[in-house]
Formats: sequence, structure tokens, C-alpha cells
Amino acid sequence: MRTHTCNELRPEHIGQTVILVGWVNTVRDQGGVIFIDLRDREGVTQCVFRAENSPEAAKLSHTLRAEDVIQVTGPVEERLKTDEIDTKNENLETGEIEVVTLELVIINKADVLPFQIDKELSNEDLRLRYRYLDLRRPRMARNLRQRHEITKAAREYLSKEGFIEVETPVLSKSTPEGARDFLVPSRINPGKFYALPQAPQQYKQMLMVAGVEKYFQIARCFRDEDLRADRQPEFTQIDVEASFVDQDDIIALVEGMLSSMFEASRGVKVPIPFERLTWHEAMDNYGSDKPERRLGMEMVDLTEELRNCEFRVFSGTVANGGIIKAINAKGFAGASVGQIDKLTKTAQEAGAKGLAYIQARDTDRTTWRSPFVKRMTDEEVEALRAKLNIEPGDLILFAADKWEPACEVLGRIRLEVASMQDAYKGKEDELDFLWVTEFPLLAYDEEEGRWAAVHHPFTRPIAEDEEKLVKGEYEGLRARAYDVVLNGHELGGGSIRIHEADLQSSMFKALGITEEEAQAEFGHILDAFRFGAPPHGGIALGLDRLVMLACREGSIREVIAFPKNNKGMELMTASPAPAAPNQLRDLRIKSTAQEKKDE
Ligand code: AMO
Ligand code: AMP
Repeated sequence: MRTHTCNELRPEHIGQTVILVGWVNTVRDQGGVIFIDLRDREGVTQCVFRAENSPEAAKLSHTLRAEDVIQVTGPVEERLKTDEIDTKNENLETGEIEVVTLELVIINKADVLPFQIDKELSNEDLRLRYRYLDLRRPRMARNLRQRHEITKAAREYLSKEGFIEVETPVLSKSTPEGARDFLVPSRINPGKFYALPQAPQQYKQMLMVAGVEKYFQIARCFRDEDLRADRQPEFTQIDVEASFVDQDDIIALVEGMLSSMFEASRGVKVPIPFERLTWHEAMDNYGSDKPERRLGMEMVDLTEELRNCEFRVFSGTVANGGIIKAINAKGFAGASVGQIDKLTKTAQEAGAKGLAYIQARDTDRTTWRSPFVKRMTDEEVEALRAKLNIEPGDLILFAADKWEPACEVLGRIRLEVASMQDAYKGKEDELDFLWVTEFPLLAYDEEEGRWAAVHHPFTRPIAEDEEKLVKGEYEGLRARAYDVVLNGHELGGGSIRIHEADLQSSMFKALGITEEEAQAEFGHILDAFRFGAPPHGGIALGLDRLVMLACREGSIREVIAFPKNNKGMELMTASPAPAAPNQLRDLRIKSTAQEKKDE
């Protein structure tokens, strides 16, 4: 059909007769002469229709509309360039030439479009409803292709490292990974349900017991949770598991994989190894287990300096075993009352009683605006000045509470201040990879009154804490778990696993699972661990998030062909949808209408 793509013709093709196919990107009528930009997935080429070259083609060209599918045939010519006019387009790779159309075939006409393809559109639901049009945009086409390149790089890298791809069931059983399951009723087993996998966690561990040794899968996962910019109900993991490995092996493997993926997509060499922070360090300095370090603005501890402060919020907190942390939002002393209110509200929503602040207008403390600075001694002010490097124009924000909540609150404030200050601007190309290690193994769930797994129930404690788990001393246990973080996003997480039935039973016990429940729910794991289970560990990377960051997008919806909107709807096909009466009958489920009738 075609001789070239729409991004192939260059000056060396001048004089050749070519055939191009594609979509009409734009139509311009210049004094009766029609110019169109013809687009295919590779790019655009200008085609010109002049009556003197072909009266029929020129006449037909007047009927062309955006997104018609056409075929043009004609010679490649150099674009006109004289002293008066220059029609060459430096922004276009094919900008030095044009095709002089001798023959035009309209392959398929396009109706009036719901939106223009070549303009940005803020109505995302409209984009999703006509996703096939939305995906024609060069940016979206690029994202799809980047996703392919990145996935391919991962497959090649892991294959080269000796990993084999094994598929695990999608119709499977509930895995306790923390979110709600999607259930699928079984017609053949009335009253029973499959769960869509939240992750292939148990299956991949079973593959280790099966002797696969090195497994990976580009795995679709399903979690019925509230949606956000970096969360979808169905998403893709690069899921990895290996036997006879320790944490450093998995870390080195993933570093190599990520650097080959970023080389494939962005053409950049990511420096490895990545820095490592313990969970405690990450929380202490950035108030987050996925620190965004590109912002600077580290949290500073002022507990000692303000222990005896006359301001009761500070001294009272310290007296009760709490701490005081602060950040310096450089140059933000001019924050408006509305902005300070908004930050205070964020702090309160995160559980703080308030948000103490100092607007350091000038050098002298008498110029500082703050609800409490007048109650501070000169020594205290000087200590703040030194530790926080306070200069005229800075805004200082404080959190006073127990260590973990104080860190968390100030961590959130830090991110919100950064977006108020537009602090991410100019950092789009910086890639800050890091590992967060030594997560807590268990966290006490106040609401449920029990311990819960921070990662998942198959994660191993660090060696020195194993005995405590067995003995039932659950406070402060650390996990052999690790997360890889990029620019404040959790890209992936994994752990070294428990591979002994007894230790696994201790873990279930810690989580308040009785022996009978453990046997009923996880009998297969406990059994398998008794038949020669190798030590093993692994990780899963969120592919959607990775591609999002590689493509500098702000939402994973931009890198998924057919994503759900924030109400969980896939708008193009309008799913989910009511089931047909016969489908419900087969499943022995009553429709709402039938239930009403029965009443
Ligand atoms: P985890 O639950 O941390 O670990 O998930 C691994 C990675 O998957 C991505 N991710 C998501 N991406 C998009 N939408 C979602 N709703 C979503 N949820 C998670 C994140 C996350 O880091 N089985 C373990 C891994 C293991 O231990 O090997 C697991 O699933 O990038
Ligand atoms: P108050 O003395 O309650 O008027 O509080 C004075 C300032 O301290 C206000 O700006 C409060 O928002 C702030 N504040 C109160 N409790 C805390 C806390 N736990 N951490 C940080 N700031 C607080």
C-alpha cells in the first residue's frame, strides 16, 4: 500500500514518486491551494494539492477533513525557500520536503470529531470515552511505545539473568495483601468465588518450592481500592522471585534491570548502586517511606533546643516523650494567610493538633511573624537560626508530637509546601533512585486491636529478630524488606521470605490467625514448606508507575491504553455494566429487579 512512513522522507528522496497513507492531521487552504499534514504513528509529512499538478486530486482535496484516512501518490519536492519566503519547517523532521499530490484516494471519511486531536484536552472522561482518538495523539502514541520498550528491556534483562517467565492464575484465591479483592462467582461451584490476584505472591513462592529458582512475570494485578493518580484497580507488576538469594542479590538485580530500562526509554545511564536509607532514616529526615529527595528541605530535629521553651506546645510535647521537628521552606515567608491555613488544615487532617510556624521576614527576630516566637529566649532563637539556616524571607514550619506522627505530618507538609512553591519545576529530568530498607515487620492496628504485617505475612524478620517473633515479642521487629523509590514514588517492594513452616506459623500467630484458620487459608503454604522449601526472596515493580515516571507523566492513566477513571469506570466500553438476566440465572444470582419481585 505505502512506500514510506510519514516520518521517512528527507531531501535525499527528492524526485522520487512515493505513496503515503495515514490520517489527515490538519488542513490548510492557502488561496485555493490545499496543504495537509498527513499523519501516521511515525510522524507527519506535508502534502500539497495544486490544480496545475492534478485537477482531480486538487478538487477532491477540498472535501478533506481532519482524521479522514487517505492515500496520496506523487513526487517528493523540496519546500520553497527564497529571500522573501521560507516554507521549510525546522520543527518537523520531514520539514524540508513536501509531497506534490498527483493522486488522492479517500480510503475512509471521518465524521465530525468529539474533540480535536492536535489540541490538549482537560476533560479526561471525554478522552477516555473516545480513547482510540485520544491514543492518536503523538504524546499518547509515544507513551504506548515507551511502555513497550521498557517492558521489552525488562524481559530481555531478566531472561539474560536466567529468569524464566511463568504465568500464574488470574482466577485465583484471595491473598492477604491489604486491599479488597475483586471476586468472580463460579457457575460450576455455586456460592463459591475466585478472587482476582492482588499479586502473584503465593504462586511465585510455590514456584520456588517447585524448583524454578528464578521466576518472573509481567503480571496483571487487581486491587479494589480507592483510586489515585498512581493507583488503578488493575495494574501491572514486573514480578520477580529467586531462590538461594539474599537482599543484596535482589537489590543488585533490580538496579541492573532499572538502569537497562531507563537506558531503553530515555537513553540515560542511571548511576548504580542506588543509595540506601533505612526506613527510620527516611522517616526521620523526610517524613515518608518514599522520600522525594529532589526537594531538599530535610527535616531538622529541635527537641533538645526547645525542650524548656516557654511555649507549652513544645515543652509539653517533649515532657511527654515527644519530639520537635521543623523544616525551612526557603523564601516562602510571604506565604498568604490562606496558604498557611491550608497547610494547617493538612496537618490537622494528618492528625496534628496544629502547625506552628515562623515567617522570618527579616534578619531581626522582632520582624518575625509567629504565634509563639515572642515566648522564645534569644538562645533558642539563635539555635533555630543556626540549625535551620534561617535567612530573611524563610518560612519555618514545626511539628511537635510522638516521633512517628510528627515525622509523618511534617513529611506531608513538606510535600504540600513544595507544590505551593512550584519546587518541582526544573527538576523534571532529575532521577533520584534510592532503596528504603529495614522496614518494621509488624505495625499495631489500634482500630482492630491487633498486629498487622507492614509488607505481607510471608516477609522474614531480620536474623536477630527471628527469635523474638517466635517468642511473641512483637514490638520493634524489623523486616528483611526493601522498597525501591524514584522521585518520591514507591516503584517497587519486596522481601526475603519465610521458608520454614514453623516460622511461618509464628508469623500467622502474630497476626492473630488461629492454627485452624492458618490451616484452612494457607495450608498449601505450610504443607509446601515441609517438603524441602529453598530460602527465597523477591520483589515486584509497578510497571505503570515506572513508565509514568520514564515518560514524565503525572498519572499512570497516561501510560495505560484503556484505564479506569477515578470512579473505576472504563468509559469507552462502559464497564462495569449490569449482567444479563441469563448470566445471573446461570450464577444463581438474583438481579435487583428479581429480588424486588420476590419480596
Ligand atoms: P506491593 O503491594 O508493594 O508488593 O506492590 C508492588 C508494587 O506494585 C505497584 N502497585 C500499584 N500500581 C498501580 N496501582 C496500584 N493499585 C498498585 N498497587 C501496587 C507499586 C508497588 O510498589 N507481592 C508483593 C511484592 C513482593 O513481595 O515480591 C507486592 O505486591 O509500584
Ligand atoms: P495555640 O497555643 O494552641 O494557639 O497554638 C499556637 C500555634 O502552635 C498554632 O500555630 C498551632 O497551630 C500550633 N500547634 C499546636 N499544636 C501543635 C503541634 N502539636 N505541633 C505543631 N504545632 C502545633
